[in-house]
Amino acid sequence: MDRMLYGGDYNPEQWMEDPRIWEDDIRWMKEAGWNTVSLGMFSWAVLEPREGEYDFSFLDAITEKLYVNGIHFLLGTPSGSRPAWMSKKYPEVLRVREDRVRILHGGRHNHCYTSPIYREKTTQINRELAKRYGAHPGLVAWHISNEYGGACYCDKCQQAFREYLRNKYDNDIDRLNHEWWLTFRGHRFGSFEEIEFPNLRQLPNGLGENAVHGLTLDFRRFVTSQTIDFMKAEIAAVREFSPHVPVTTNLMDIAQDLDQFRFGEELDLISWDNYTPWHNGTPMPQLAAEGAFNHDLHRSIKRKPFLMLESTPSHTNWQTYNKPKKPGVNHLTTLQAAAHGADGMMYFQWRMSRGSTEKFHGAVIAHSNRTDTRVFREVARTGKTAERLCELTGATTKAEAAVIYDWENRWAVEDFWGLHTGYGKETKKYIQTCLKHYFPFWQNGINTDVIDRRSDFSPYKLIVAPMLYMTDRETIEKIKAFVAQGGVFVGTYLTGEVNENDLCWLDGFPAEELKEVFGLWGEEFDVLLPEETVRVDARGKSYQAVDFCEVIHPDEDTEVLATYGEEFYKGTPAVCRHHYGKGTAYYIAFRDEGAYLSDLYGELIRETGLESAVQLPLPEGATCHTREKDGKRWLFIENYNDHPVTVTLKKGKYTDIETGETYSDMIELEGYEVKILVYGQ
Ligand code: GLA
Ligand code: ZN
Repeated sequence: MDRMLYGGDYNPEQWMEDPRIWEDDIRWMKEAGWNTVSLGMFSWAVLEPREGEYDFSFLDAITEKLYVNGIHFLLGTPSGSRPAWMSKKYPEVLRVREDRVRILHGGRHNHCYTSPIYREKTTQINRELAKRYGAHPGLVAWHISNEYGGACYCDKCQQAFREYLRNKYDNDIDRLNHEWWLTFRGHRFGSFEEIEFPNLRQLPNGLGENAVHGLTLDFRRFVTSQTIDFMKAEIAAVREFSPHVPVTTNLMDIAQDLDQFRFGEELDLISWDNYTPWHNGTPMPQLAAEGAFNHDLHRSIKRKPFLMLESTPSHTNWQTYNKPKKPGVNHLTTLQAAAHGADGMMYFQWRMSRGSTEKFHGAVIAHSNRTDTRVFREVARTGKTAERLCELTGATTKAEAAVIYDWENRWAVEDFWGLHTGYGKETKKYIQTCLKHYFPFWQNGINTDVIDRRSDFSPYKLIVAPMLYMTDRETIEKIKAFVAQGGVFVGTYLTGEVNENDLCWLDGFPAEELKEVFGLWGEEFDVLLPEETVRVDARGKSYQAVDFCEVIHPDEDTEVLATYGEEFYKGTPAVCRHHYGKGTAYYIAFRDEGAYLSDLYGELIRETGLESAVQLPLPEGATCHTREKDGKRWLFIENYNDHPVTVTLKKGKYTDIETGETYSDMIELEGYEVKILVYGQ
């Protein structure tokens, strides 16, 4: 890409009645600095109004108009929302709900991903689009479908699930019986044909199996796998006529149910839709770190620049409180994407719809149809900055620290009964815990990757794996090798309890040789009530454990860094450090709300030589990130406070890419300001 993509979703087919609107759109997009739009994700009913009858006139016209005006486009494949004639004629394309009721036509993102007819229809329209636009000089990338998600429970999907299991368990039902531990309560199957989808507890008790964790885990894996299989069919159809144009799809955030790491292999480019709920009452730095975590995760899927494909320029219309971004916040939060490795900063959407559910969703052009608005001015201002970031595209993020966020682990943690129950709910707070462990790295301005347990561990000096309950043989080997070779690995309570099929490891936790790596074994858990805390003492300071305290026993050569200060396990270790090979493993046995993590990671950052690009400490709520290319570095300093802060730079000469001003020691940032400095060469 030769420019920072700047633009967003554009739905010109909603405005075909009035050609003046398109004229305004293009003129104003140029004024806003937009160079790229996403088109066509919801255009199927216009493009194929009747079966096999295509009408590309609107796309022909708009792609041409955009192109001659210097605006490029991502072209959507329209599978996210199909025409009504299709649902009527071929009901099998409609998704079946978990309660086995086939849905009626309506809404979107609700097709059956197994239906041969839906795949055929999608392939046909994708091929037509690729034939027609695949070599268009304005085409930047294929935007495959829209926010894949959800599951279908039809008979065809049920058969596909059985096939998936046959494959996984080598057609051996007794292997499955063993891995799912089905002798428990007499649940053994005699054949794969007897297996039904699980009841993920959205249904009343008794409507389907809800007690077999191996089944729910494999089902969730199947949903990801079948979604990717559908996506691959979509990609094959466009590649046939458009082999050189990259393909992407807009993934969602970490709360999504699909394992997004698995999409990396099939896509040329990773994209995600960023709807961080700015101003929802949570402190801004915490929200910013959540957004940062998501950016880092999406960059880490391919360890390459990615796109922020959607974000609102002002407010959404589906959050509890749809607050507009305050002045300056759009600039800051849009450039946050670039700071974390994005080569595209895109919005949803250009123009507010006139009717239907998105008529009050934030957009660059509101119903007032004018550009003398705060939102337009702010978007245009960021457009000017985007122009100055051409050279940044392709620049990489060098990260020596990583936090593990693993989808399969999350599913398994959420599903198991124990500690805090509430099946399928966030009672065990896996996501929040990962964010809590990530926060100190964010606050210290350390470039950090967010990886899963299957990712390559070798680029890192330090890896943090909160609540890594699921450790299969491969993960155990990887942790061992990582530490033995000199890495610093931080694990917590719950580490290494089960294998990949949710079978508990025998002979004690953490699993197998992880006991030697961490130099300890875990005996039992105390579970604290919401109002309870347990004191933890470490080097003359005291901290408070919440939720979980694991009782652990260190080996002789294991150092105890913190001990419990009360309860029946008073005086026993709460945090341990153990040298293994050339490296070190830390075990944090209790849940901390942040104070202990901040102190511990502060030390670890210094000890392992992780470098922030500025002098630490950074002011609270401010952070920095770097990208580099050809010996040149871009330093993004971001202030998520509403008040000014001063940041101390390291020795060097820094040039502000917006103003050309140079800095060498201190830099002041206004409230919600971001500065982009270049240095090196
Ligand atoms: C999602 C969709 C968009 C739009 C936005 C609104 O991200 O992909 O089409 O509906 O939500 O926030
Ligand atoms: Zn189906």
